[in-house]
Amino acid sequence: MDIIHSVADLRARLQREPNNVFVPTMGNLHEGHIQLIDVAKPRAACTVVSIFVNRLQFGPREDFDRYPRTFEADCKRLREAGVDVVFVPEEKEIYPEPQTFVVEPSDLQHILEGAHRPGHFRGVATVVLKLFNLVMPHSAIFGKKDYQQYIVLRDMVRQLALPIEIIPAETVRGPDGLALSSRNLYLSTEERREAPRLYRTLRHAHDEIMTGARDFQRIELHSMSELANHGWKPDYVAVRRQADLQAPAPGNRDIVVLAAARLGRTRLIDNVEVFLK
Ligand code: PAJ
Repeated sequence: MDIIHSVADLRARLQREPNNVFVPTMGNLHEGHIQLIDVAKPRAACTVVSIFVNRLQFGPREDFDRYPRTFEADCKRLREAGVDVVFVPEEKEIYPEPQTFVVEPSDLQHILEGAHRPGHFRGVATVVLKLFNLVMPHSAIFGKKDYQQYIVLRDMVRQLALPIEIIPAETVRGPDGLALSSRNLYLSTEERREAPRLYRTLRHAHDEIMTGARDFQRIELHSMSELANHGWKPDYVAVRRQADLQAPAPGNRDIVVLAAARLGRTRLIDNVEVFLK
C-alpha cells in the first residue's frame, strides 16, 4: 500500500494506474468505511482512499478542531482491507491558496442538513470535485448513511457531466442499530445507551408508512416528540422521496425518512429507506 502526501506524487503514481476507484473519507475509519472499500475493490485494478478533514465543510462552531485524527490505526485498517493507494494530504496541498472558486450545489443545499449546516454541502462538493480532479477515478463510493451528501454528489456529477459513476453503499450499523459514525466517540456511556433510539424511531416511521400511514406530517411530529421526550434535541425528522428529497407526492413509492438530532453535545444523523410496493 502506497501512502502518498503530495499532489505531485499522487499524479505520478496514478498515471501508472488510470483504472481506479475512489473512496473519499475524513479518517477515523470504522466498519462503515471498510464496507465502502469492499464495494470498491472488485470494480478496478486500483483502490484509492483519501483521508482529509476538510475545513471548508465545517461551520465555525462545529467540531473541525476536535474531529478525531487516528492516522496510524487508519493505515493499519486500510492495509488489511487491501487498499492500493492512500492519499493523506496536508491542508496546504489541497488549499495552497484561499479556495475562491467553489461548487455551489442546487437548492438541495438549503434543505434538511443544509438548513442546519449553512455552507456544508458547498464545502463537501468543492473538495470532492477537487479530489476527483486529482484522482480521476472512473467510479467513487459514498455511504447512504450521509444520504443527502450522496444525492448532492450524484447530482453534481450528472449536471457537470463528470465521467465518474457514483455508487451508493448501505449503512453499516452496530448490533443495537446505531449507525457507525466517527462522532459516536463523543457520546458518554449513558448517551451511547440512548443513541439507538434514533434508528428505532426511524424504523417505527418506516413500519407506519409500510402499513399504510400517509399523514407524513403527523409521523414527523410524532417521531420528533418521541426523541424530545427522551432528552434529544431533534433538528428534523422528514419524510421525503428518494429521488430529490422533496415532499412525496401521491404515488411516489421510493421514500426515505431522514433525521438529525442532538444528544448532549453530539449531533447524530440517520435515515431509513421505504420501498412501497
Ligand atoms: P466521512 O464522514 O469520513 O465518510 C466517508 C464515507 O463513509 C462517506 O461516503 C460516508 O457516507 C461513509 N460512511 C460513514 N459512516 C458510514 C456507515 N455507518 N455506513 C456506511 N457508510 C458510511 O463523508 C465524509 O467523510 C466527507 O464529507 C467527504 C465525502 C470525505 C468529503 O470531505
